[in-house]
Amino acid sequence: MARVLVTRILPDGGLDPLAARGHEIVQRADDTPYSHDELVAAVADTDALICLLTDRIDDAVLTAGAAGRLKVVANVAVGYDNIDVAAARRVGVEVCNTPGVLDETTADLAFLLILAASRLGWDAERDLRAGTWEGWGINQYLGRDVHDGVLGLVGYGRIGAAVARRAGGFGMHVLHHTRRDTQIPGYTASLDHLLAEADIVSLHVPLNDTTRHLIGRRELGLMKRHGVLVNTARGPVVDEEALADALHDGTIFAAGLDVYEREPVIHPRLLSAPRTVLLPHIGSATQATRAKMAQMACDGVCAVLDGARPPNRVTS
Ligand code: GLV
Repeated sequence: MARVLVTRILPDGGLDPLAARGHEIVQRADDTPYSHDELVAAVADTDALICLLTDRIDDAVLTAGAAGRLKVVANVAVGYDNIDVAAARRVGVEVCNTPGVLDETTADLAFLLILAASRLGWDAERDLRAGTWEGWGINQYLGRDVHDGVLGLVGYGRIGAAVARRAGGFGMHVLHHTRRDTQIPGYTASLDHLLAEADIVSLHVPLNDTTRHLIGRRELGLMKRHGVLVNTARGPVVDEEALADALHDGTIFAAGLDVYEREPVIHPRLLSAPRTVLLPHIGSATQATRAKMAQMACDGVCAVLDGARPPNRVTS
């Protein structure tokens, strides 16, 4: 029986695979987050760590764990930019994530942002709730049509492809850009070309050294003036300062964001930007999907503890 540290309370049923194997689960009953120092202190005495994207699993945590008996870290998220994977490899700790189970849910949310930002849904709702709507007006809340538009997907992994499938139902023409040629119709090798052609640009790349601030002032300047930017990937893929400027000065029409550079801090000029929909990182937030993510993280832990190679291992 192994000892597994779980940093937060997970959705109902999420820990079932660990319980079924009889592993000891170490978890705070009151859901207080572990500070970095507390994590460094606690991890050495555990065989496995199940963490969230809000936990910083850096060299110090991994080195402390490996000096004890830590064998595996499983992130309950598909993105794992919160984990120093190079350090994990160096100290011999496996890292797992949760690919596949959240694609459709996250694609749904990307589409919600595409629609809400393009059609100014949030601005209109805000006025209605504030009691400032004076009745139907022919020139009110004039958004941009989503149907028949050009959707530019930056990144074309499982989530990007799931967004593309939804776009088909809206009669959109879909372009996509990745570093490697997908050989799929709509592929463009040039990000600049995609930005210039798309009515709506939706980001689906992981955060790493090559994607940090991939969309900056220059790239926003290439977009159409009626362009809409949607980000459900990771905040730092976009230079928020540049995006706030672009929204305030009308370089682009609108934005829909679910992720931010310094979560939970939101850039004040994004909060005041016109035609901007801001959600609090809820891309995968449905009960069913979050439970599946937790179970997949547990499955990865169980596999490593059994001496097997889990399919969701990122330390390959
Ligand atoms: C959520 O943002 C995830 O990476 O799963």
